[in-house]
Amino acid sequence: MTTVSVIGAGYVGLVTGACLAELGHQVVGIECDRSRLAMLCSGELPIHEPGLDELFAKHRAFGRLCFTDDYAAAIPASSFAFIAVNTPARLDGRADTSFVLAAVRTVLEYARPGLTLVTKSTVPAGTGDEIERLVELSGVPGVEVTANPEFLREGSAIADFLQPDRIVVGAEGAAAGTRVAQLFAGVQAPVLHCSRRTAELAKYASNALLATRISFMNEIEAICARAGAEVEDIARIVGADRRIGPAFLSAGLGWGGSCFPKDVRALIATAADHGEEGAILHAVLRVNRRQREAAFERLREAVSCRDGATVGVLGLAFKPGTDDIREAPALDVIGRLIEDGIRVRAHDPIAMPNAQRSLPHIGYFEDPYEVADGCDALLLATEWPEYLDLDWRTMRRRMRGAVIVDGRHALDVERLTALGFTCLSVGGRRRSAQRQPALRR
Ligand code: NAD
Ligand code: UGA
Repeated sequence: MTTVSVIGAGYVGLVTGACLAELGHQVVGIECDRSRLAMLCSGELPIHEPGLDELFAKHRAFGRLCFTDDYAAAIPASSFAFIAVNTPARLDGRADTSFVLAAVRTVLEYARPGLTLVTKSTVPAGTGDEIERLVELSGVPGVEVTANPEFLREGSAIADFLQPDRIVVGAEGAAAGTRVAQLFAGVQAPVLHCSRRTAELAKYASNALLATRISFMNEIEAICARAGAEVEDIARIVGADRRIGPAFLSAGLGWGGSCFPKDVRALIATAADHGEEGAILHAVLRVNRRQREAAFERLREAVSCRDGATVGVLGLAFKPGTDDIREAPALDVIGRLIEDGIRVRAHDPIAMPNAQRSLPHIGYFEDPYEVADGCDALLLATEWPEYLDLDWRTMRRRMRGAVIVDGRHALDVERLTALGFTCLSVGGRRRSAQRQPALRR
């Protein structure tokens, strides 16, 4: 059994730790945040991630997964140290790698010769070289520096980790790369070996390309709104081409979350640092910002002549399946509505406590039907499955107005139109109930 330390017990660190334990390794999670560590040591998870609680409980019970803040105890016993700490955006958009470098320095104080360092955090190309300089300064012999970027999504993180499309290992020496790949021996996925800088940059390229697809479809949606076409059908037509594929073509409010926004900005900064313009990346970011503003405009138009104008917002998380509200489009739109003096009533199945901390002055309701009470317009901001199955007749009866901005192209337009709703896309298209049957869901 190999002993692995995972530094940072956030989303990625916890999933990595639990899944490496599932693959048969002995895992020690090192976490510096006292309250987070206390929770973990008492068997509580600080994040919501489907399936993680089972793995966490199982491997704590087997004694294969434990947590500490004591590097001196954990690192000398470890053959691998995964760095999974946060790399937030700095004000200038660059990734702040100071937490990574600080964690590496502490690891090196206690490292035994031959330790393999594995960077899971998303870091700019060249960070591994900086880590290597720290290794040289430490004087610990035989420490290898590798990159193993993570592609998991929140909400499906366990499956993404254990059944990934690929495992990427960036290393300067073949032996170190092979050692890291062997840790994933139980996983059925191709291992793509490459240089360390390539692995680091590939992670940004991957997130930026996904964000680009979404912004591209949002650009198409804006054209559809003027040209009189249906963007969902275009997504299906375009996505049926196997060279393109159907994923990440859903237009709407755009992308949020803890990673796409910071990673697109960081890649723009990397481009600039190397004298490149990053023209596509700038446009991707601009289109994404425009979607939030456009949704606000649609809602403002819908409620403008109403006394006590009120908008209901369904969904606050940046996507379904998570309580994460970081860079969530809903929060920006709500902020604009409040600035404009429009009242907001909101619901989310699990993200309300988080939203309440950053937006305390709106109405939060445990029941989505209560959100509808007296509203002039509704925004569907997160496509939680329970919203698709609401009794829309009751919603209509409880609302004052009848406009729905479907920020995720997720609602049954035909049914809603029959109930008297006006369904708008973010781009302002009055969504049609007359689409070709072959193209309907
Ligand atoms: P997070 O903020 O949820 O967790 C980071 C954890 O590291 C925190 O608990 C923090 O207290 C801890 N930490 C920081 N410095 C430490 C130190 N010196 N010693 C011990 N603990 C320390 O972050 P995250 O979402 O898990 O992201 C981690 C990295 O993985 C980032 O680079 C991110 O871009 C990347 N990533 C995230 C996701 C995702 O879905 N969240 C997916 C792929 C990649
Ligand atoms: C994303 C990537 O999908 C992961 O591969 C990556 O590891 C991760 O970022 C990361 O680096 O942190 P995540 O942020 O969890 O994962 O969520 P996604 O499912 O990718 O969704 C991101 C955003 O795009 C959400 O706001 C979602 O609503 C939006 N989206 C997604 C669309 O607007 N349209 C789509 O077609 C798909």
